[in-house]
Amino acid sequence: MESQDRDRGPAMGRVASQPGQGRRPARSRYTPAVADTARGIFITIEGPDGSGKSSLMPRLAAALAAAGCEVVTTREPGSTPFGELMRRLVLDTDPPVDRGGRADALLFAASRAQHVDEVIEPALARGAVVLCDRYADSSLAYQGAGSGVDMPQLREVQRFATGGLVPDVTILLDLPVDVGLGRKADEITRFEAFQDTAYHERVRAAFLGFAAAEPARYAVVDATGRPDAVLERAVAAVRRVADRMPCLAAAMEPTSG
Ligand code: TYD
Repeated sequence: MESQDRDRGPAMGRVASQPGQGRRPARSRYTPAVADTARGIFITIEGPDGSGKSSLMPRLAAALAAAGCEVVTTREPGSTPFGELMRRLVLDTDPPVDRGGRADALLFAASRAQHVDEVIEPALARGAVVLCDRYADSSLAYQGAGSGVDMPQLREVQRFATGGLVPDVTILLDLPVDVGLGRKADEITRFEAFQDTAYHERVRAAFLGFAAAEPARYAVVDATGRPDAVLERAVAAVRRVADRMPCLAAAMEPTSG
């Protein structure tokens, strides 16, 4: 699997290849050519800055791949040639070009649309487990709760960008803002450099609110624990949809990381 780090090239990879594990009806506007073909599972990992998503991703991917799933790891912003260009544009602190939340929201949404079309939907259509580091909920938390963009309009933008594709499972890595920002002290994006603690508190509170509103999709995982404990809780969250994909059930065996 390839790196998820900002400075280390593409952040998308396939961990193992055993297509055809998932069996559930195709949905959304992206109806595959064969109507009853295998459809994968879409798992997103969300959380405030420094919550450890990029550390969990490869471990969770490895656990699922070891159980025989085809796993595609990907991230936002990024993961397509256009998305990686956009990533530099939206995250780099240099030059320090200012932008409002609405402009940010549209930039993230443009990248997301390309990501859904080029990466996520094709992988789901062939039956893969897609593990995605941030998705539409990040825009709702950061641009909506953080920057104050109108939430109903922002939700409409997400629907347009994603074609209505909603994750099957969202793992929310939660931790106190100061702990998260402390972890990222040497890896600064615009969101750490130019936003204050109150902004990040709003982001965290928004994520927790989304989780409370959609408990069937969201699993809140305490991200302050040891990596093995975080992995175990994340795997347990994935178990919720194991009935749709046998390999996910197999991944429930005790994990060694
Ligand atoms: P990144 O270095 O990937 O941070 P992290 O490891 O915390 O995910 O930077 C992504 C930043 O972009 C992060 O601060 C959250 C922000 N972001 C948004 O504001 N809106 C979005 O829609 C997305 C996907 C990310």
